[in-house]
Amino acid sequence: MYRVLCLTLILATCVKSSVLHLEFDPNPTAIVIHGSKVITVTYTQPLPTPLNLKFNSTPQISFDPTEITLKDDLKEAVINITAKKLSSAVFLEVTDCNLVGNDSAACPFNKSLTFGVVQVVHSQILSYLVVVTGWIYVAAWSACFYPQILLIYEHKSAQGCHFDFLVLNVLGYACYLIYNVMMYFSEDMQNLYLESHPKSLIPVLLNDVLFSLHGLFICIFTLLQCLYYELHRRNRASKVSPEEHKKEMEAKQMPHHPVHDDGHLMSYTCMVFCSLIGIFVIITASLSMMGVFTWLRFIDNLALIKMIITACKYYPQAVHNYKRKSTLGWSIARVWLDFIGGSMSIAQMILQAVNTDDWSGFIGNKGKLGIGLLSVGFDIVFVVQHYLLYYHQKPIDEEEEETVEKGKKY
Ligand SMILES: *[C@@H]1O[C@H](CO)[C@@H](O)[C@H](O)[C@H]1NC(C)=O
Ligand SMILES: *[C@@H]1O[C@H](CO)[C@@H](O)[C@H](O)[C@H]1NC(C)=O
Ligand SMILES: *[C@@H]1O[C@H](CO)[C@@H](O)[C@H](O)[C@H]1NC(C)=O
Repeated sequence: MYRVLCLTLILATCVKSSVLHLEFDPNPTAIVIHGSKVITVTYTQPLPTPLNLKFNSTPQISFDPTEITLKDDLKEAVINITAKKLSSAVFLEVTDCNLVGNDSAACPFNKSLTFGVVQVVHSQILSYLVVVTGWIYVAAWSACFYPQILLIYEHKSAQGCHFDFLVLNVLGYACYLIYNVMMYFSEDMQNLYLESHPKSLIPVLLNDVLFSLHGLFICIFTLLQCLYYELHRRNRASKVSPEEHKKEMEAKQMPHHPVHDDGHLMSYTCMVFCSLIGIFVIITASLSMMGVFTWLRFIDNLALIKMIITACKYYPQAVHNYKRKSTLGWSIARVWLDFIGGSMSIAQMILQAVNTDDWSGFIGNKGKLGIGLLSVGFDIVFVVQHYLLYYHQKPIDEEEEETVEKGKKY
């Protein structure tokens, strides 16, 4: 895993090329109201003649200097911005752009795509908290896979997980990874995005790419792990009498439930659902290939699929727990980490809105909000199932652990 991440990182730094030739750093930047901050403007292409740039903005900020000249040996300038009025997004735009001493030459970049974004905020501490909550939810959502893997390994059984959940997770992360990779690495995609979303920044950062890559790998691993133990169990079950198998399962504290025993790992509903998604992806990919609509639309659809999958992937698991009347084998640590992830992602949006007095982003970002609320909701269901409804199924005391050991010898 570590190697793969390293490789991706190296790849990312080599391959990554920006569509924008004039870069603002940092972008976006947050400035506390009535305070000031220096940002750097860099031109990333060769400059045969000096480039003269004039900037303009709205009254929420003032800045100095308003005009800079970049040369081949000095392609960097700093601008001191002073924040005057709260705002979630003020744009620092290029109004004039010319190559000195060559009136016939056009501006070497697209002015309408080139701008810096400034947020004028109440407090620096809240700005830090926005960053910190961001890291916490990425860390929690990345870490939440591991307790489940360990639990499956410990029980040598996949009985606690529903295969619908595992498969949907793989599918969801695959869509999300393709979306992130295409948006992050493809200049064409970024151009299309900026054209159709004026006044926005590219929505995918390197950590999104790494997060989804890690997620996909670990989901595939969990699926294979569960498949291995479940096929192993079935193989064993076919060799012993039903009573004996039932006894073994009970010895392992694994309820002899009917859900996995009916011959299908996945439910029909989920198979149909996955097939429909597959068909939809193939059709939209073909249409994009034929030029009926853009590849941007294609990856936007993938992001939408990921969202729909996230919305329904927990449902089969909750029903699975209900049918077994047990959460044994379904990691509660995973649920808590997921809960932390979901609530931190919502907290981040609230902090952002409070810090700029602007709730339009909170209400506007329905995808992120919806996913956060849904995962928190389902996590509460799992917590109730685990600690209240099926609590009596939980404890493994020492006496029974001995039986578990005996059970393993079969
Ligand atoms: C930026 O501008 C503000 C207000 O004009 C000034 O107080 C501050 O010292 C400047 N900062 C830098 C680094 O020049
Ligand atoms: C002026 O710009 C034009 C168009 O980009 C270019 O062909 C020409 O060589 C430039 N002239 C000088 C003197 O740099
Ligand atoms: C610059 O970008 C805008 C907005 O996407 C687009 O409409 C325009 O055609 C572009 N201009 C050039 C010269 O590429």
